[in-house]
Amino acid sequence: MVEEQKDGVILDVSVAVPRYVLSHDALAEARGIDPDKYRYGLGCEEMSVCGPGEDTVTLAAEAAWRLLKGDPERLSRVGMCIVGTESNVDASKSIASTLHGLLGLRPACRVFDIQHACYGATAALQMARSWVRQYPRQLALVIASDVARYERCSPGEPTQGAGAVGLLIGAASPRDACLTLSAVSGTYASDVNDFWRPTYQKTACVKGKFSVDCYLKGMVEAYDDYKAQVKASAVPEHMLFHAPFPHMARKAHRRLMVHQGHTDEIFLADDYRRRVEPSLWANRRVGNIYTGSLYLSLAALCEQEGDDLTGCHAALFSYGSGSCSEYFTGRFGQAVARPGLQAMLDARDSIGVSRYEVLSDASLALEQNQSFCEDIAPRKGQPFTFLGIRDHERVYRQNEIGRRGEDFARERVESLPRAIPGRDPGVGQRPLLDGVAG
Ligand code: CAA
Repeated sequence: MVEEQKDGVILDVSVAVPRYVLSHDALAEARGIDPDKYRYGLGCEEMSVCGPGEDTVTLAAEAAWRLLKGDPERLSRVGMCIVGTESNVDASKSIASTLHGLLGLRPACRVFDIQHACYGATAALQMARSWVRQYPRQLALVIASDVARYERCSPGEPTQGAGAVGLLIGAASPRDACLTLSAVSGTYASDVNDFWRPTYQKTACVKGKFSVDCYLKGMVEAYDDYKAQVKASAVPEHMLFHAPFPHMARKAHRRLMVHQGHTDEIFLADDYRRRVEPSLWANRRVGNIYTGSLYLSLAALCEQEGDDLTGCHAALFSYGSGSCSEYFTGRFGQAVARPGLQAMLDARDSIGVSRYEVLSDASLALEQNQSFCEDIAPRKGQPFTFLGIRDHERVYRQNEIGRRGEDFARERVESLPRAIPGRDPGVGQRPLLDGVAG
């Protein structure tokens, strides 16, 4: 019997979202905007908001921890961990290094970050796929983690969000995969200033309408590059787009269909409803998570369609401002991921606009030296907590549940937090978090 060919595939998908959620209706009311603009014009319903103790690193670590599922065999096979992010918390140290410590990855492990706006995770994914082909006994973690911040009251504010997506990459037959990606990708790059964040700013700069045009041009060019390499390909049953706001996926679908010669309005609406809409429900409830946004749609589609996806084809479009675009396809195998997304989103604590504003101010306050505060309580099931900065070092605590992989399934916090061994905190400084923690 001929052994089935193994490829570098996506074996599993995980998601982590922060503690709080703000509804767009509440934000619209506070900003004096017609709520229909957010709901129908942008396609947004809710945005995830970080609480104290949550940042790009804790979200990344949680997504990775969820992929490992407390399985020592899985953990021992991880030989590479790449974090894609554009909201890094340090200009030098990689988030992947902190993950190495928090997760207890083995010493012989490559760890590094990739930054290219919302494209970073796709670059990481392609690199990890090639790497596991070379080291088929090993596994790679690809983690996309971001906290999207725009100026308060700016047009970008309703497109904020926070969260992380984890992809477990390994060598397997397409049958045993969640998703096997095409060997060929179409790519397009261009030096544009559509969206960026200077190192001296916490919020993004953006030329909104121009960024939409850059995205759409990048998509058409990347698609043409793909078609030039693949003469015949299956019509994908699903289309996943980078979704900074869900309505962007609608614009992208429309532009691509028109580019392919489809102009009938009834066909366009029906095709969008069948092939795009089923993947967008989580983006509507989380907001933009930058480099994880495309893969949040993948997680949502897996959860929504389950085993019905097996054998189906998907087209994926990744866009990172600046810019780099990639169009690629994939085929679902029998191991369709079950990320538990719906339950995770339903479990968030709902907040109003004033608390959202206090929390976003507090998260900036924690980004200062000596902001350290040791008694930040974790939310239920939160494996890692950011305690602030002490002597210019960021301090993370591994909560009880994060230390005990075997408790993964039960997801309960058994005791109050303790600091990472060897990093005992010393004197906590509470004032910055007064009235916010908890
Ligand atoms: N009811 C229903 N719809 C309404 C409405 C109402 N009362 N009022 C307005 N709308 C509609 C508008 O008609 C418009 O729809 P179309 O785009 O289909 O025409 C939509 O709501 C948006 O309204 P505006 O045109 O007035 O746009 P805006 O000033 O609110 O800005 C934005 C929209 C440019 C996307 C802004 O939110 C922004 O700058 N976002 C951040 C940048 C971004 O996401 N860019 C996307 C491409 S870049 C990228 O993808 C990288 C990344 O992740 C950032």
